[in-house]
Amino acid sequence: MTVLNVIKHRFSVRKYKPKPVRTKDLYAILEAARFAQSSNNLQDWRFIIVRNENTRKNLVEATKGKNFVGEAPVVIVCCGINTNHKMTCGQHSYVIDVAIAMENMALVAWERGLGTCWLGAFYEDRVKELLNISGEDTRVVGILTLGYSALSAKLSGKIQKLNLNPKKNRLPLDTIVKYETW
Ligand SMILES: Cc1cc2nc3c(=O)[nH]c(=O)nc-3n(C[C@H](O)[C@H](O)[C@H](O)COP(=O)(O)O)c2cc1C
Repeated sequence: MTVLNVIKHRFSVRKYKPKPVRTKDLYAILEAARFAQSSNNLQDWRFIIVRNENTRKNLVEATKGKNFVGEAPVVIVCCGINTNHKMTCGQHSYVIDVAIAMENMALVAWERGLGTCWLGAFYEDRVKELLNISGEDTRVVGILTLGYSALSAKLSGKIQKLNLNPKKNRLPLDTIVKYETW
């Protein structure tokens, strides 16, 4: 699949089979994060791979009751460090850098037949406490669930069809793109 095809076909998976993720797939997904671009090449990301069932179950409550966090065989907690660093444009670089790495992981996961779901709805304090993340300078930017989709082929097909219909699921280009000036 071309990168564009992976981008167009990927969708968020919120129902997982208990089947474990192969080490070589997890490794490839983490490599996709490692090779991401980052501001000043700071690589201001750190990833906690949670496979322990108890910890995953505890993360359910920290993610406002998202049961699929307990069901996914792997949960990747994506953190930013150097959180005071700002680029000339005024934006904090760590949020952007971690987000790029997360998307790289989501795309390589999809390419390898695995699903992900990005979670922004979580109580950061609770996640930090559960995973022993200490330090003011470390923030949890996002959580990525990872595993094999438990959706039927029929339902997956339907979602992909919806994804591929530009009118239904995504804003059209003429809404989001302006040429030359705002
Ligand atoms: C920054 C960010 C935060 C998100 N937070 C959540 C979340 O807390 N819970 C959830 O179920 N999905 C979450 N999502 C997934 C989006 O809902 C999903 O990507 C969007 O609806 C488009 O659907 P698709 O991923 O299937 O293409 C998040 C996605 C992003 C990029």
